[in-house]
Amino acid sequence: MPLSAPLTREHFERLDRDDPLGASRARFDLPTGEIYLDGNSLGAMPAHVPARIEHVLKQEWAQGLIRSWNDADWYPAPQRTGGKIARLIGAQANEVIVADSTSINLFKVLVAATRMQPGRKVILGERGNFPTDVYVASGVAELTGCELRCVEPDEVLAALNDEVAILSLTHVNYKSGRRYDMAAITARAHEVGALVVWDLCHSAGAMPIDLNGAQADFAVGCGYKYLNGGPGAPAFVYVAERHIPHVRQPLTGWHGHARPFDFTHDYEAHPTIDRLLVGTAPQLGILALEAALEMFDGVDMQVLRNKSVALCDLFIQLCDEQLAGLGVELRSPRDAAQRGSQVSLAHANAYPVMQAVIARGVIGDFRAPDILRFGFAPLYNSYVNIWDSVQALREVLESGEWDSPEFIARKSVT
Ligand SMILES: Cc1ncc(COP(=O)(O)O)c(C=O)c1O
Repeated sequence: MPLSAPLTREHFERLDRDDPLGASRARFDLPTGEIYLDGNSLGAMPAHVPARIEHVLKQEWAQGLIRSWNDADWYPAPQRTGGKIARLIGAQANEVIVADSTSINLFKVLVAATRMQPGRKVILGERGNFPTDVYVASGVAELTGCELRCVEPDEVLAALNDEVAILSLTHVNYKSGRRYDMAAITARAHEVGALVVWDLCHSAGAMPIDLNGAQADFAVGCGYKYLNGGPGAPAFVYVAERHIPHVRQPLTGWHGHARPFDFTHDYEAHPTIDRLLVGTAPQLGILALEAALEMFDGVDMQVLRNKSVALCDLFIQLCDEQLAGLGVELRSPRDAAQRGSQVSLAHANAYPVMQAVIARGVIGDFRAPDILRFGFAPLYNSYVNIWDSVQALREVLESGEWDSPEFIARKSVT
């Protein structure tokens, strides 16, 4: 519900005072004086993670050495951490495991799903999906003799037919923040006999997800965005319980074996979700992610979603009020029901504009060719952040300060 215009900073301060999630912000280690609106790219660091990792390094590794695989419970960390993510995505603990990266998990489930659909030769994807989803699907198509067919997002339902083996979609689009109706699309795909792979990179930890309720088949997602697992954190993979016995994933490493420590010659897939594992888990990354997930303990995901919607709605309302005539256009859906937890704006000089905004201490990011992207993480973004960030953007645009060589020169990571 829009607040009555014109908005003032006091409106936002009042919302912060009433925010049921307000206390969790202090449990993150964030630079003072800066506003971080890029948790959809790299989540902020929960303040307790360094102590946990220091313990892992100095005690469990340095002193425990190889014994820690057993004594410090390193070995079951992928299952344990997957179980914690399961609650956030509407799955059972035995359907989710942490492993590898999103790209690699996509490869594993796309091949496995294709193998479950003999006689069907189309992988249906969307134009404008995150590149790795398209690149991996094209690699899988080549490997399995399928055709990768990509359509515009609003053509997906019409493109579902009995040729389609797999529908591969990202729940919330990385660039526009547009969100698919997971339940409706999954139901339609099942009607034509297709299986669906959902990429949850931009939704896990940002909103309630109900994979089981939607009868979802497969899902993948990363640990370093809204789950705050740290740079390059391992990813997760979900397989519906009903499919697990039928999944033959292509990366048949020893940790996916039924009895890895028998060291037998022949591969035999583990009977559980463990068959999605490949090799030795990146322990430091998993243990950091596991610790970071404590930030979600006791958090009602619907309360988190309500705040996410309010942050995005208010950001849009303020942009309408304060940026009119400054060359900015909304590129995310106005309707919250069709949106994730980010707002994207287009501007002809988006790259230097974002650099100038960052120089003022408001950190968002740029996506080619012309998108200013602002991600809202309800666990650590405040309402006043919305007011202050739009003021910074307005000042950058009005002053033209972005038009300077230091902001125009492209860095390698945008
Ligand atoms: C939708 C989506 N899928 C996948 C990835 C990245 O995959 P990986 O962690 O393998 O680099 C991203 C990264 O931003 C993404 O937005």
